[in-house]
Amino acid sequence: MGQRVRGVVAAGKGQPVRIETIVVPDPGPGEAVVQVQACGVCHTDLHYREGGINDEFPFLLGHEAAGVVESVGEGVTEVAPGDFVILNWRAVCGQCRACLRGRPWYCFNTHNAAQKMTLEDGTALSPALGIGAFADKTLVAAGQCTKVDPAAKPAVAGLLGCGVMAGLGAAINTGGVGRGDSVAVIGCGGVGAAAVLGARLAGAARIIAIDLDERKLATAAALGATDTVPAGDTDVVAAVRDLTGGFGADVVIDAVGRPETYEQAFYARDLAGTVVLVGVPTPEMRLDLPLLDVFGRGGALKSSWYGDCLPSRDFPMLIDLYLQGRLDLDAFVSETIPLDGVEAAFEKMHHGDVLRSVVMF
Ligand SMILES: NC(=O)c1ccc[n+]([C@@H]2O[C@H](COP(=O)([O-])OP(=O)(O)OC[C@H]3O[C@@H](n4cnc5c(N)ncnc54)[C@H](O)[C@@H]3O)[C@@H](O)[C@H]2O)c1
Ligand SMILES: [Zn+2]
Ligand SMILES: [Zn+2]
Repeated sequence: MGQRVRGVVAAGKGQPVRIETIVVPDPGPGEAVVQVQACGVCHTDLHYREGGINDEFPFLLGHEAAGVVESVGEGVTEVAPGDFVILNWRAVCGQCRACLRGRPWYCFNTHNAAQKMTLEDGTALSPALGIGAFADKTLVAAGQCTKVDPAAKPAVAGLLGCGVMAGLGAAINTGGVGRGDSVAVIGCGGVGAAAVLGARLAGAARIIAIDLDERKLATAAALGATDTVPAGDTDVVAAVRDLTGGFGADVVIDAVGRPETYEQAFYARDLAGTVVLVGVPTPEMRLDLPLLDVFGRGGALKSSWYGDCLPSRDFPMLIDLYLQGRLDLDAFVSETIPLDGVEAAFEKMHHGDVLRSVVMF
């Protein structure tokens, strides 16, 4: 059985993506079919297309999505047809060693749909991050559907499903930013800008935004950065120290993920402060730091996977704050595009022209 719908497929390494007819099975036990309403274009989709994640082509791209549950399989109780949901890539298992230690946001065995979506000839598709939402409909594990207030616009809600949550969570969850803290964010694309917003939400007194691109600094200022530092020919560490009484920031978030930005984050932080790495490095990158400085500067060096979020806890809360006008998520939607605009959106992302392009269905 199943249904035939349109989906954006990356057939091979580096090949432009194409709209194909895909087959979405009816939901089996524990699964749900979701009618996608909006799906943002994330860097990770481009990484998949370029073979940077793995070789399991063909990929069904798209993973920052919101939509309405169309049907559910046997035994599904958490969501029902008609529910407005954000799709997540952290459907926690409740049984792995992280979940058993009471830290489900690290869950090492997250759920995805058991059945495969396919091309018409039966070729199995690999959905990006177990979601695959550049498609009219997609099949996921029911736990990947997080119910939120349907008053939120789908284009905005969907962004919480990946990059914006990663940034907000890097500040709020991983960095533990608190009232009065000083925070510096290196790299203010979609993820870093969200970290600025998260720091503001958490009550940071000083928020220093750092980027090579003036346009990103302007956006960060609009979202609540108190100071901006153009990274190009400035000594970033000295600039952050100057803005923090000569000491460095309490929390520094690296939303680029390169050895040089990490080193800046390491030294731009106050003694006993926290570094949060949320940008994703590539396999060849190496770090060389004096071990004595690692010891002597103390504090915490942390990585943030998906903002250490727990979708069931964080998505509804953040959507409520958005609806109350306390979280400016609208600023992240740079443009809305049709399903056949994904390839062009990759190009704009590459040139830094957008925070997020969002496909509307
Ligand atoms: N940890 C996670 O769970 C998670 C989730 C989603 C995305 N990410 C990662 O976060 C990173 C950022 O994603 P994004 O969507 O914001 O990308 P982006 O391309 O929109 O933003 C990157 C920004 O960094 C700036 N930049 C680049 N080099 C710089 C430098 N040396 N100094 C200062 N600024 C610099 C760019 O000008 C740009 O504004 C990526 O590595 C992405 O893969 C991580
Ligand atoms: Zn688990
Ligand atoms: Zn993403």
